Amino acid sequence: MSEGREAFAGGALRSAAIDTYDDHRMAMCFSLAAFGTPLRINDPNCVAKTFPDYFARFAAVTQAAPVIAIDGPSASGKGTVAARVAAALGYAYLDSGALYRLTALAARDAGVDWANEAAVAAIAAQLDVQFLEGDVYLQGVTVNEAIRSEEISAGSSQVAALPAVREALLFRQRAFNAAPGLVGDGRDMGSVVFPQAALKIFLTATAEARAERRYKQLIEKGFSANLPRLLLDLQQRDARDSGRSVAPLRQEADARLLDTTDMTIEAAVNQVLQWHREANKTASR
Ligand code: CDP
Repeated sequence: MSEGREAFAGGALRSAAIDTYDDHRMAMCFSLAAFGTPLRINDPNCVAKTFPDYFARFAAVTQAAPVIAIDGPSASGKGTVAARVAAALGYAYLDSGALYRLTALAARDAGVDWANEAAVAAIAAQLDVQFLEGDVYLQGVTVNEAIRSEEISAGSSQVAALPAVREALLFRQRAFNAAPGLVGDGRDMGSVVFPQAALKIFLTATAEARAERRYKQLIEKGFSANLPRLLLDLQQRDARDSGRSVAPLRQEADARLLDTTDMTIEAAVNQVLQWHREANKTASR
């Protein structure tokens, strides 16, 4: 157990990583301690010996809190809408893309090639991350800007295409789901991470509208920007994200389409909140 003793320091549970030493009992026992505490169980697949779908069943039992899953293309505003919906409902917010970005950053800092699946997955499983009041920390250092750079954006999309990396980040993402509820944004939120989500949304806008929004954002921040170039970048990224075999960009059959091309952020937030109320009413009938 790498930090097991510290996990119970002072009688209070706090965030920790648990090594399982290829022992299924370690994984199952500490999964129970994970209620309300961000515990990371290393190598959770050691349960395969006796209970291969233990964590899937565990998730089904423990994830009673409602989930709103939001996906959509790059620069669609899904992150902004998801964060505002979460704030309006008093729910937690999971920016799953940040985990892939953090993995790419940590791998680069460790000198690990983004194509080295096993090594990147090991880094993803061990990520020392904290999300605190809108700030993201990697090994205690704020990395808000660093994970948004062009280089790390490209790296995140590379590492996100590696199945072992997705697997390593799955349990960590599910651990965000606690009462009173969660709004998660990202590629496989509704299909893989929270398939039980009561409301799934595919939030999009035309590439032209998205390029325009990104352009305005950059200009407002005092950066120089080139609109045709931004549009081309987005179109290329859409094509790459839709064409990849692992977690491709697409609207799932059970996701509602929210096209925000002619909508303000407020209108998009209100639409999601209205769908959420409707989904709640249906569930309580
Ligand atoms: O909005 P955008 O897709 O540009 O960025 P992001 O949400 O921060 O995600 C960064 C990268 O991680 C993108 O390449 C996504 O395709 C990928 N990603 C993923 O594969 N699965 C997720 N659940 C979230 C992000």
